Amino acid sequence: MTTPAPTGTSAAFLQPAIDQALRTVEQNAAAYGGLHPDCNSHGEVYPLRPPREVFSPLHGKRPSTEGENVEWTSGFWPGTLWLAYELSGKDVFRRAAEELLPSFRERLDQAWDIEHHDLGFLYTLSSVAEYKLTGNAAARQLGLDAATYLMRRYLASAGIIQAWGNMDDPDQRGRIIIDALMNLPLLYWASEQTGDARFRDAAYTHAQKSLQTIIREDATTFHTFFFDVDTGQGRHGRTAQGYSDESCWTRGQAWGIYGFALSHRYTGDPAFLEASRRLADYFLKHTPEDDVVFWDFALNDVPGAERDTSASAIAACGFDELARALPPEEGRVYREASLRVLGALAKNYTPKEGSPSNALLLEGVYAFSTGRGVHEANLWGDYYYLEGLARHTREWSPYW
Ligand code: GLY
Repeated sequence: MTTPAPTGTSAAFLQPAIDQALRTVEQNAAAYGGLHPDCNSHGEVYPLRPPREVFSPLHGKRPSTEGENVEWTSGFWPGTLWLAYELSGKDVFRRAAEELLPSFRERLDQAWDIEHHDLGFLYTLSSVAEYKLTGNAAARQLGLDAATYLMRRYLASAGIIQAWGNMDDPDQRGRIIIDALMNLPLLYWASEQTGDARFRDAAYTHAQKSLQTIIREDATTFHTFFFDVDTGQGRHGRTAQGYSDESCWTRGQAWGIYGFALSHRYTGDPAFLEASRRLADYFLKHTPEDDVVFWDFALNDVPGAERDTSASAIAACGFDELARALPPEEGRVYREASLRVLGALAKNYTPKEGSPSNALLLEGVYAFSTGRGVHEANLWGDYYYLEGLARHTREWSPYW
């Protein structure tokens, strides 16, 4: 289900940005050769995913191989390929995306590195996107199987999906994170496909619990929040990737803008639309003059702070989703903001002519506190940047 883009806003000026992105994606598809790029660039160039330790409850621990499908980010590369396919109509992108699907099947079947809630990011952009665009029944089944696996993390007593770790881990038990709102569409979709309301009920309840706890009075958000699993009561917020527990991590705020708008699309509950709008208003009010945010709103007045372009790219998609759900006169401000942010990203944060970079969007921050991917491109920044460009230049039905 999607609402057509409002008419009357010319986005033709984004076409050169699309052309540049498509050239890069085509070169990358050839260079990666059916393997997976790392989560973030190193010196603005993505290598293949380096080996790391991975775990499966079926097999235990082992080192992954170079370019293997591991971590929470590997769906963004097939998602980017599907967008490139839609934007160009070229089979080279479709074939490259289809070639990756068996790695997602193998990963789920053997349960490698899937003891977390990010099955939504992984399987929406690989399996659900492929099913929606090609009708491949095996891709549909894989999406349904991933949704079923994700349901293992649903704690009915608290009405939440635990984000990370073993379900008995005392440090992670009852913890949600705002990013999870983007994992919920996999569950909503699974209900629509199967008629089994349990997927939808879990997603809806989780979104309601998030709305009640993760948004502060001033419309900023906690990155993560802990619940008492026995009583279902919210306990306290805590950051993982933000500046501090009390600050507002810009990417988390962006996940909230887009994620609540998506829960509204699937449930029709106006509380989610209102939440998305409040978060968007805060985001826009605190965005610096060049239209691209720093990695935490606490850094707005700190000289030399790093941008997180991925937060702005996600927010640009969220603004557009919000605009499509609102009456045209109320949505216009968000649609224009979306276009403005994408224009700023295209103009100031993409590789210059002759650059050796194989990224679409530069200057993200993965995790500042651990020094991971700081001032580097990342796969989700690339994906949402291209999704935003697609949203403004064609009739585009979300994979989410
Ligand atoms: N979902 C993890 C992140 O945004 O870094």
